[in-house]
Amino acid sequence: MGLRTREKPMKSHSICVVGTGYVGLVTGACMAEVGHRVVCVDSDRSKIKLLRSGRCPIHEPGLLPIIKKNVAAGRLVFTTSIAQGMRRRDGDADVAFIAVGTPPKPDGSADLTFVEAVAAEIATSMRDYAVIVDKSTVPVETGTWVEKTVRRVNKHRVPFDVASNPEFLAEGTAVHDTMHPDRIVFGVSSPRAEKVLREVYAPFRAPVLVTDVKSAELIKHASNSFLATKISFINAVSRVCEAVGADVSLVAQGMGLDKRIGSSFLRPGLGFGGFCFPKDLEAFYWIAKQKGYDFGLLREVTEVNKTQKDWVTRHLESELWNLQGKRVAILGLAFKPNTDDLRFAPSLSIISDLQARKVRIAVHDPIAMPKARGLLKGVTFAKDPYAAAKGADCLILVTEWGEYQDLDLRRIQKLMANPFILDGRNLFDPILVRGLGFVYRSVGRP
Ligand SMILES: NC(=O)c1ccc[n+]([C@@H]2O[C@H](COP(=O)([O-])OP(=O)(O)OC[C@H]3O[C@@H](n4cnc5c(N)ncnc54)[C@H](O)[C@@H]3O)[C@@H](O)[C@H]2O)c1
Repeated sequence: MGLRTREKPMKSHSICVVGTGYVGLVTGACMAEVGHRVVCVDSDRSKIKLLRSGRCPIHEPGLLPIIKKNVAAGRLVFTTSIAQGMRRRDGDADVAFIAVGTPPKPDGSADLTFVEAVAAEIATSMRDYAVIVDKSTVPVETGTWVEKTVRRVNKHRVPFDVASNPEFLAEGTAVHDTMHPDRIVFGVSSPRAEKVLREVYAPFRAPVLVTDVKSAELIKHASNSFLATKISFINAVSRVCEAVGADVSLVAQGMGLDKRIGSSFLRPGLGFGGFCFPKDLEAFYWIAKQKGYDFGLLREVTEVNKTQKDWVTRHLESELWNLQGKRVAILGLAFKPNTDDLRFAPSLSIISDLQARKVRIAVHDPIAMPKARGLLKGVTFAKDPYAAAKGADCLILVTEWGEYQDLDLRRIQKLMANPFILDGRNLFDPILVRGLGFVYRSVGRP
């Protein structure tokens, strides 16, 4: 146990990764890249078909070249069968990562049915010792349940260990985060599992923190909840700034210069989204409550986040009065730049709010449009930001894609029916934008 920074040279392992999504696919590809033999398994046939044809089901910078290189080298294979992932001609998998989704149930607690199903299937498939590693984000004590499940199903008493290895990658920078992590955490209950996981992660040359399984599970929920708290905190501060005419970007800068606070995750905006923060906060709240602690702070963080999106309608109404029939251009649909992920994206609830007020909406996103077409009804999908802005009464910047920073705002100004920008991510310079003749509002800045 404890923190070490230097690991021994590499020993190649045979690894099965179950769940080939944002986490599993990146993990599998990067494990192959450092020399392990990896089989990535997914029950979604269309995903596996796409991967086998040399294409990538998700947008993640730098991922496709790694996949192609390692498939060509024979170190990375895709299948829909867990049994094929575990039983291999070149040596059975001795590490099985569970990287399936853990979506929220209607009450906010985590749905762990995928994790249970996969654990049971790994248990029926393994023929020799394996470490079954949970990489999905799960509530504390899931490891205990996984162990019980494997014991129940594992009729031939094949030896195994269960470990927790929370994932800290961020979409948009997932390959870099995986190849150069700040830290690797794994929770184990035996020296044998610790040895295997140290070998698996040795090539990444990152600080390793080894803990017990429950502490590792809690590290993930606590980390995400803490980051989300920072975002909601600065968003709450931005409301005070708006009320008194102060500038939240200066307040955040002043706070961030304090080493104890740090500047990251202190950017005000329209709130956080994505597949992690909203659901992990809820799941952490629920498991704490189940264990007898009412973690009310997390409720408040979620509440600030939900109401932060009201900033859009509040400012729209204060400038445009009645919204019915007004035209709005929305730039950015993905929950953050450099991903095509729309899960719990602020854009979706903003669009639904505006549609309830009968606003006419044109949208644009550099990458997420194909996924958005399946989710959004009654909006116009514009081919570029200029087409979205044409005839609009307001342009709302929802996701701060780099290319929006370079927009030709003079051209936008001429195209709009009413030159009004709501900058939900504080991307533009207020003086410059107002100088071009726009009415301009940003979050918590005068
Ligand atoms: N996306 C992130 O940025 C991120 C970061 C850290 C941790 N996590 C956590 O990692 C987990 C996975 O997240 P994700 O974003 O990769 O999800 P995802 O939805 O992109 O991928 C999950 C995959 O699991 C597959 N799957 C489900 N049941 C299966 C089964 N029985 N057999 C085989 N495959 C099955 C699905 O088809 C899907 O492709 C979640 O718990 C999430 O909270 C996500």
